[in-house]
Amino acid sequence: MADLERITSQPEAYERVQDLAEKGFSEIPSAYIRPLEERPTISESIALQDIPVIDLSSETSPDLSAKVGLACREWGFFQVLNHGVPLELLERMRHIGAQFFAMSLEDKLVYACKDTGSAPEGYGSRMLVKEEQVLDWRDYIDHHTLPITRRNPERWPAHPPEYRKTVEEYSNETNKLARRLLQLISESLGLEPSVIEDAIGEPSQNITINYYPPCPQPHLTLGLQAHSDMGAITLLLQDDVAGLQVYKDHEWFTVQPLPDAFVVNLGDMLQIVSNDKYKSVEHRAVVNRDRPRMSVATFYDPSKSRYISPASALLENNHPALFRSVLFGEHVSAWYYTGPDGKKNIESLVIEG
Ligand code: OGA
Ligand code: NI
Repeated sequence: MADLERITSQPEAYERVQDLAEKGFSEIPSAYIRPLEERPTISESIALQDIPVIDLSSETSPDLSAKVGLACREWGFFQVLNHGVPLELLERMRHIGAQFFAMSLEDKLVYACKDTGSAPEGYGSRMLVKEEQVLDWRDYIDHHTLPITRRNPERWPAHPPEYRKTVEEYSNETNKLARRLLQLISESLGLEPSVIEDAIGEPSQNITINYYPPCPQPHLTLGLQAHSDMGAITLLLQDDVAGLQVYKDHEWFTVQPLPDAFVVNLGDMLQIVSNDKYKSVEHRAVVNRDRPRMSVATFYDPSKSRYISPASALLENNHPALFRSVLFGEHVSAWYYTGPDGKKNIESLVIEG
């Protein structure tokens, strides 16, 4: 596969949404207006639905993996408490994110994404690579954090002084948590704890701090368009502003932020490894008029050179593989170049029976 991250080499030259929002217009530019069927319903009384909350300290192993399994089957999303990542580290991570986005545009642009390929590191706003697209009401700063060979803190913000150290610590701690969750998920499928981790191989971890500025017309746009995450598992740290919505039974549910929790969701590669027993679930972010919102997404993915296919232990006893094997890097490029468009990228891997 060509290294798509190197095809284009212009620094991302687009407008940043935060800068646009700070200009104080009462109407948003047409580039951010979604087609009618994609627009969210924004109402003060919006029902906050509680996705399952799992206390990771409270149960012994078989009970815990059963709970995780149920949450994976019913929602594909859950929140975890007492997850082992120090709460003061969550606070520090939120703090450096807030400090970064509080800097002037000029100071932030020092860290602008250096290209417009798939998942470039740095400060950006556009998610997809294709020209024709409705833009998201979001800015972000992305960090390549694992394996260590991808990690180059020199490319990350130098201010505040604790920025780089905090990202490194957060990377290590969230990686431990992701591995523990993958072990529980593996057990919940009746597999040895290591089966899913082994299928994913050495993880490639990215940490993205998302910043959703207030928006004068939140009913016309989305902070982040509907998508399923393309990798194995995602850990999302939210602040106290609601905005994440999960699609279930043909409805969008808003996730109640819990201050000390991670929101956990399964990605497309877990759907493949589990041979469709668990699904990656569509989600999106809505914005609001009054308050900025920040979240930190930590993605645990295979490396781009890894082939992913259903775990062989699940294929015994006449259960055929439901997906063909896919090179993860190809799945990533398809996603960034053509867009998520529901789950069409994973649907294209289904073996017709
Ligand atoms: C993501 C994501 C949701 C949010 O970054 O993939 O789905 O609420 N984020 O920021
Ligand atoms: Ni996502």
